[in-house]
Amino acid sequence: MSNRAMIDSRTQAEAIRRGVDVKVLPTHIALIMDGNGRWAQRRGMPRLLGHREGYRTLRTVLLSASEVGVRYLTAYAFSAENWKRPADEVAGLMKLIEKAARTELSVMHRNNVRVRVAGRLDGLPSSLRDALEESIETTRNNAGIGFTLAINYGGRAEVVDAVREIVREGVAIDAIDEETVSDRLYNPDVPEPDLMIRTAGEMRWSNFLIWQAAYTELVVTDVDWPDFNPDHLFDAIAEYQGRVRKYGGL
Ligand code: FPP
Repeated sequence: MSNRAMIDSRTQAEAIRRGVDVKVLPTHIALIMDGNGRWAQRRGMPRLLGHREGYRTLRTVLLSASEVGVRYLTAYAFSAENWKRPADEVAGLMKLIEKAARTELSVMHRNNVRVRVAGRLDGLPSSLRDALEESIETTRNNAGIGFTLAINYGGRAEVVDAVREIVREGVAIDAIDEETVSDRLYNPDVPEPDLMIRTAGEMRWSNFLIWQAAYTELVVTDVDWPDFNPDHLFDAIAEYQGRVRKYGGL
């Protein structure tokens, strides 16, 4: 058995122990990584340290999801509304994400991860945009887990951008259906999420993947994102597997 296969089967054994059926995994998991600030403040630490810890959590969770066999993971790193935060927190987050994009690229590539981004990239600092574009280009042909970083992302903005594209193309009104919109979202090749996990207890969508999540199962945990670990991921998958998805039918 190769090293990688050994790691994968060990992670799968852990998931099975937590009640996961690894034969029917959600294809795509979306993450709302909430509670970094609270986690830090409770420890008397600056909020940015919570984000730094959150970044480490994301790396661990991404690799676990990949090892267990999840095909796509999308993480909400920075929303279009997050610009309203204090300037030093915004600047710190941008720096953290850029540094992570640069230092993690080799890890991603080695693990066969394909990186995508979702959001209005033209609103980001150019050095961050460059780092993200390099990650996308380098990993373009990787066949492992598809990892999408949602950054400067808003669900409504994504739909607006799709509508603008439809108008730009001059699509005839009667030819417009749901697929016309879906095909013009930021990553039309990524399937809709089956499971969305939100940490830190809030029962909201916060403008995340609002079009794609129409039939997504939502699992909310009270755990703050920096404390979230692979066992929590497996618990959320097991909870999802206990749900009956009806898509409006019976
Ligand atoms: C929400 O917690 C979290 C964010 C706004 C940022 C999420 C970003 C990361 C986890 C870091 C990502 C890093 C990389 C490299 C992708 P919050 O600040 O709203 O927490 P609070 O509700 O407790 O204040």
